[in-house]
Amino acid sequence: MTNEVAGETRTGRPPLEFGSGPLADIDLTRPEVHAERDLGEVWGLLREEQPVAWHPTADGGFWVVSSYAAAVEVYRNSDVYTSARGNVLATLLTGGDPAGGKMLPVSDGPRHQQIRRVLLRALTPRALAGLAEQVRGATLRLVREAVRRGDCDLGHEVAPHIPLAVICDLLMVPEQDRELLLTQSKLALASEGPGGTEIEARLARNEILLYFARLARSRRDTPGDDILGLLIQMTRSPIALTDQELLYNAYSLLLGGDETTRLSMIGTVHALTRWPDEWARLRAGEVSVETAVEEFLRWTTPTLHAGRVATEDTVLGGRRIGRDDIVTVWNSSANFDPRQFDEPTRLRLSRAPNRHLTFAIGPHFCLGAQLARIELGALVAALVRTTDAMELIGEPKRLYSNFLSGFNRLPVRFTAARDTRPPHPAEEGEVR
Ligand code: HEM
Repeated sequence: MTNEVAGETRTGRPPLEFGSGPLADIDLTRPEVHAERDLGEVWGLLREEQPVAWHPTADGGFWVVSSYAAAVEVYRNSDVYTSARGNVLATLLTGGDPAGGKMLPVSDGPRHQQIRRVLLRALTPRALAGLAEQVRGATLRLVREAVRRGDCDLGHEVAPHIPLAVICDLLMVPEQDRELLLTQSKLALASEGPGGTEIEARLARNEILLYFARLARSRRDTPGDDILGLLIQMTRSPIALTDQELLYNAYSLLLGGDETTRLSMIGTVHALTRWPDEWARLRAGEVSVETAVEEFLRWTTPTLHAGRVATEDTVLGGRRIGRDDIVTVWNSSANFDPRQFDEPTRLRLSRAPNRHLTFAIGPHFCLGAQLARIELGALVAALVRTTDAMELIGEPKRLYSNFLSGFNRLPVRFTAARDTRPPHPAEEGEVR
């Protein structure tokens, strides 16, 4: 399958296809390919020669969009590239997402906008200001404890506690249930090693949905103004959210908010151990935390791809896309496109502007972007305040997934800085 539109390829050479030539052994559906190989060169070749390439599978295939420009084109146009049949490759290849049309990331059109607008109210910088202070205090305390101990596995000891606690606060999930949600959310999206199965993931997803069904039932009469409360309120007219929509959206907030942020935090510390000069600049105050956070988000790109389905025949990057074709946008490539980012393979914390696609762009732009920035900013600020140096003291362990990217295990040694400032007011608060 080539589907070439005459005269529109970049190099004039025959189009690159997965499964043959230089891409003979690259199967993007396999988690091992992402966990065990450095795909930098492959993405470079694709962006240069075939920014929209066909990837065959045993019983079909999908389009792979690797350039920044083509990725933006897909993200912005949800009329032609719909999310309503799923936005993750694995579900699209197995017949589509059962939550299609019932959960924000996999819905389109006016109802998507309507629900999104209500939830956004709870996630603006102003709405999150109080929570942000709490997050900064709690994160500083966690990091200070880790630094005091010296050696720690950031993947297990620090990073998991922050995002889940924050999103559970926003959904008002009781304390005693949080450990269960952490375990299930890890299983639902990725796996700790190459042995994870789709069945295991599906069971975990069901477990989370059942949990939210019970929680929502118990709060039906007194919803409150937290995010779960807003969802419960939306079940009334005029929006009249169905029970299924309520559960799927609570689920999506939990999963969207937990694993991705955790991975960006672990990846941030990993990056700092590899780029000591950038760490020195950050510590010296030459780069603001806000600017650095954007580069950490680009660098770590926790969601490798987003999936769409073409609603009509169209042309993208010189290739003919057929109606109903699966189109996948690879953030992991677009965020390193030299046509958009100068020296993209260099961590440059002062990079500005930094229009990365880590949160996508367009109608599905991440609802929790502000929250994720607060959490990552809290980590970076806490490191600057408490830490003099950090180094890896063991092999980091990557997670196995074709959707998420990052480390589950990151053994690091911190050297404490002399911090003469008084404790942050929220530092004494509970880390839940
Ligand atoms: C570093 C952390 C995060 C990353 C990398 C990330 C990434 C993304 C991406 C790429 C999308 C677009 C998906 C698509 O276009 O198909 C998205 C959407 C979304 N994210 Fe995030 N996210 C993060 C944090 C969060 C947090 C903290 C929350 C929870 C509050 C959240 C909730 C959502 C929701 C609900 C959507 C769907 C929005 C819509 O379709 O209108 N995310 N996220």
